[in-house]
Amino acid sequence: MKIQLVFLLTSLLALSSSVMLVHGEDPYLFFTWKVTYGTASPLGHPQQVILVNGLFPGPVLNSTTNNNIVLNVFNHLDEPLLLTWNGVQERRNSWADGTPGTQCPIPPGTNYTYHFQMKDQIGSYYYYPTLGLQRAAGGFGGITINSRPLIPVPYDRPEEEYTVLIFDWYTQNHKDLQKILDSGKGLDRPNGVLINGKTAKGDGKDKPMFMMKPGKTYKYRICNVGMRETLNFRIQDHRMKLVELEGSHPMQNFYDSLDVHVGQCYAVLVTADNKEHTDYVMLASTRNIHTNPHDKDAAVLTGKAIIRYVGGHGAPSPKLPPAPTDIQWSVDQVRSFRWNLSANAARPNIQGSYKYGQIQIARTIKLVNTVEKVKNKLRYAINGVSHVDPETPLKLAEYFGVANKVFKYNIITDNPPAKIAKIIEAPNVINITYRSFVEIVFENHEDTMQSFNLDGYAFFVVGMEPGVWSPDKRKSYNLVDAVSRHTVPVFPNHWTAILLTFDNVGMWNLRSEMAEHRYLGLQLYISILSDSAQFRDEYSLPEWQLLCGIVKNLPRPKP
Ligand SMILES: *[C@@H]1O[C@H](CO)[C@@H](O)[C@H](O)[C@H]1NC(C)=O
Ligand SMILES: *[C@@H]1O[C@H](CO)[C@@H](O)[C@H](O)[C@H]1NC(C)=O
Ligand SMILES: *[C@@H]1O[C@H](CO)[C@@H](O)[C@H](O)[C@H]1NC(C)=O
Ligand SMILES: *[C@@H]1O[C@H](CO)[C@@H](O)[C@H](O)[C@H]1NC(C)=O
Repeated sequence: MKIQLVFLLTSLLALSSSVMLVHGEDPYLFFTWKVTYGTASPLGHPQQVILVNGLFPGPVLNSTTNNNIVLNVFNHLDEPLLLTWNGVQERRNSWADGTPGTQCPIPPGTNYTYHFQMKDQIGSYYYYPTLGLQRAAGGFGGITINSRPLIPVPYDRPEEEYTVLIFDWYTQNHKDLQKILDSGKGLDRPNGVLINGKTAKGDGKDKPMFMMKPGKTYKYRICNVGMRETLNFRIQDHRMKLVELEGSHPMQNFYDSLDVHVGQCYAVLVTADNKEHTDYVMLASTRNIHTNPHDKDAAVLTGKAIIRYVGGHGAPSPKLPPAPTDIQWSVDQVRSFRWNLSANAARPNIQGSYKYGQIQIARTIKLVNTVEKVKNKLRYAINGVSHVDPETPLKLAEYFGVANKVFKYNIITDNPPAKIAKIIEAPNVINITYRSFVEIVFENHEDTMQSFNLDGYAFFVVGMEPGVWSPDKRKSYNLVDAVSRHTVPVFPNHWTAILLTFDNVGMWNLRSEMAEHRYLGLQLYISILSDSAQFRDEYSLPEWQLLCGIVKNLPRPKP
């Protein structure tokens, strides 16, 4: 009974899912989601939130490697909606990516069905609404891709799995927050931090969010789905063994706490092996990673949840572990993650059989983020261009052969000048040769934290240092066992380098995961075209795809 309640509370069940097997094909999972407004009081005062099937956060999309997902989304909001699948690679299928550059929004009062496949992936991810600042109101939830039974994961099966979404939270309505940004100003600091949409009071009367049987080991899948703050995650009197990181199996080390940057996910094993108490506090605290002294001294905000050992009751110890305050600690932690070369991932071949360090780099792209007031309004830019979404999604404009009416390719250069003169506002689209091996260097010239996500791909994070990048920095790259992941932090006044092969045809969003920065232009799109218009390289335009803008009434090109 209690366990069932906990299940509901943590929204582990995608309630309206069913399974159908199709012969000779990978299994299909069908979901129906209703997206509505609702009221919740996560910080004590009622406010409007976005629910998925009545839940805040939404249900976990639970699946297994290679499952086909058919997800019918009903938009009951009063504004358009798009959902993206953060970290799911959607191979050959940017049609379903749920960003304004790939899809027309789902109009209010209508439904649209997403089709995509969990191709060759395992791991912990999440979905969220991409339009406006809707994410500030919810509409997000976890995505789990389980390993197929035939492919063992490098650890024993845990007793149970829990999804833990941690996020900073504003008590203001998402439309009011959007108005602040539209008026040219930035957002203030958030009002609190939540764990699965709640925070415990710590008065000894809190209901537990998670239950553990004494002696048993549990898997916690943790994602920071927040707006801007890096969160330090820890569990009182328990160590965490890191076993998965955005689809990769890392070397399994123990951590007392993990800094989870916005957009990142980790899975850890925790054993209920403490004898002192039966209740323990899970904590997520803001890290205030800014070089700006004003922000550095800002108060630490902490969200809490209670873990209870089965059979126990009573208050946790009042001695709560503090979050680290050192920034270098955070940099060192990211750099400490190592790929387990002998572990397998979604396919039976071991991770280390892909020797990324031996591939010749075909192109180096340096991306520098800056912030400036343009016509008295705050704008964020990559290499001097602050992205704006045209009404016609970029992917559709390209596919229908009218790209030249909507955007220009490559208005930024691969090697921006040391001082970026002036920010311009335009759709920011670059193209990259299909299957080329590319080095991308992010250089953060701001005094705030950055966290970049690339849709459609995972990449190797090979280097991260203070200052300015130069080619001789390649000597310090990890070319052997860097972890492959989909989101990477770029610390204030640091650079971060990643390597990857652009082998997934489509139009893919490279974006800041910080909602305010992204909304104000800190993103771009990467177009990968295949010269052979073949089905194996990219699916043709789905017949159910919504059309809008200047392609709305154009005849659909023949595949
Ligand atoms: C998720 O799916 C896996 C594989 O089908 C299944 O074993 C597991 O019980 C599911 N978990 C939940 C919470 O539904
Ligand atoms: C909308 O939902 C109905 C009923 O569930 C379904 O039959 C229809 O295919 C959906 N429409 C779209 C565009 O997905
Ligand atoms: C790496 O993976 C192998 C193979 O699954 C496993 O036996 C080993 O324990 C893992 N090592 C670490 C340090 O995680
Ligand atoms: C990129 O776009 C330009 C302009 O359309 C084109 O000339 C070039 O061939 C494209 N390159 C790739 C790699 O697609």
